[in-house]
Amino acid sequence: MKFAKNILCIGAGYVGGPTMAVIAAKCPGCKVTVVDVNEERIRRWNSDDLPIFEPGLLDVVRSVRGRNLFFSNDVVEGIRAADIIFVSVNTPTKTFGHGAGMASDLQYWEKTAHEIVAHADRSKIIVEKSTLPVRTAEAMECILQENKKGIHFEVISNPEFLSEGSAVKDLLEPDRVLIGSRQTESGRKAAQEIAAIFAHWVAADKIITSNLWSAELSKLVANAFLAQRISSINAVSALCEKTDADVAEISFAVGSDTRIGPRFLNASVGFGGSCFKKDILNLVYICRSYDLNEVADYWQAVIEINEYQQERFVRKIIKEMFNTIVGKKIVLLGFAFKANTGDTRESPGIFVAGKLLEERAQLVISDPQALENARKELSGLDGSVEYEPDPYRAAVDAQAIAVITEWDIYRKLDFAKIFASMRKPAFLFDGRNILDHQKLFQIGFNVFPLGKPSLTHFK
Ligand code: UDX
Ligand code: ADP
Repeated sequence: MKFAKNILCIGAGYVGGPTMAVIAAKCPGCKVTVVDVNEERIRRWNSDDLPIFEPGLLDVVRSVRGRNLFFSNDVVEGIRAADIIFVSVNTPTKTFGHGAGMASDLQYWEKTAHEIVAHADRSKIIVEKSTLPVRTAEAMECILQENKKGIHFEVISNPEFLSEGSAVKDLLEPDRVLIGSRQTESGRKAAQEIAAIFAHWVAADKIITSNLWSAELSKLVANAFLAQRISSINAVSALCEKTDADVAEISFAVGSDTRIGPRFLNASVGFGGSCFKKDILNLVYICRSYDLNEVADYWQAVIEINEYQQERFVRKIIKEMFNTIVGKKIVLLGFAFKANTGDTRESPGIFVAGKLLEERAQLVISDPQALENARKELSGLDGSVEYEPDPYRAAVDAQAIAVITEWDIYRKLDFAKIFASMRKPAFLFDGRNILDHQKLFQIGFNVFPLGKPSLTHFK
């Protein structure tokens, strides 16, 4: 079959895979190819055991795979054939050298730019999908225009706002699609070409165009605002615990103000995920590099409160369990950074598990999707860790349960059965405030929610 356009995506990860599956489903006239250097990942994308867990994704992939969606390791052929190249490689925070712990590590991304230059033999549109520091497009342009073949590459920024766990829905019904381009004739034309892809299923008023730098910066700012709401309510949860106020009642009252809105006001053991911390660190780094230290400090505090919240959660576990957890069996219910994903990047579970192991607790980690990643995250740590997908089996002989992830299945567990199998006194620390605390207390648990009065049987 002859396709109207060849779209390539470099990087078959959490962003590239779902995004391209939805584009393929909505644009049957386009051939969409996703390439990655990781052979195992591509093998799994070509099977029914996808490399990432995302509700509804397998159905979308199955409906288009082999029709107009293809997964391959052949990066070179992919580049040659493409009219439009989405770049969706990983850009983690640097762990070494200048800017370590703050700036993005752009080595994968830069390598991709060089590969495009080496193998392209005609003009193409290059679309930045990965979250990148502001003005990365400029650097990308420099590398791309350094070719001696007389080829023109137009660089577009099209940041992805999907949220893991609801990626398919977010892609099918986005709040907006943002397309940033150079404000030149060829820049605007390329932006229109990308807009035309999304126009297959997204209303015109939701497709926003802007200049390149605004698009890049909007992604960082959107994530910083979302994270800031969580740090704000988490900071308030600490105050609630001192004053007998209830953080859930405060979220409801405050969120009922239409200017504020109800979403992203759930107190938690802390936010995780591959984006929030990285993007804020990026914002902080950029501000410092322009000597905007007050602005940098403002955003940095969002991360500091997140670390404080995780630390506070662990301190509470230790204190309430009589200041020692040596040899005590503690179950972490959930390890993914949020529900409906197997992703554990920056999960608060990593910090909590590490600290509890330092205190020589015996950990049992339970999660319906994230145990494979949990094992990898904790592989270098000393101490006793078991992995048990079944929460009932995990809780046998345990002294405490700590809820780390807000999986729906945990709300429906038979806690009377769990309590009966645990050592007494039994403790429950709800790091997500998803359980019925009064009921747990009546069953016999000593219950420690976040930002609400604790319920204990001790005199
Ligand atoms: C985020 C942005 O939402 C998305 O637009 C962007 O493209 C990528 O980064 P993601 O990290 O996948 O998405 O998940 P998100 O739903 O934003 O949750 C991030 C973290 O915040 C999770 O750990 C979640 O549990 C936590 N969270 C969220 C809270 O602690 N409280 C809340 O009220 C909401
Ligand atoms: P994200 O969450 O942003 O999608 P991931 O880490 O899940 O990030 O995915 C990024 C993918 O990009 C990985 O599968 C990685 O193997 C791939 N990748 C990195 N560099 C290259 C490259 N030069 N060519 C092809 N794929 C690459």
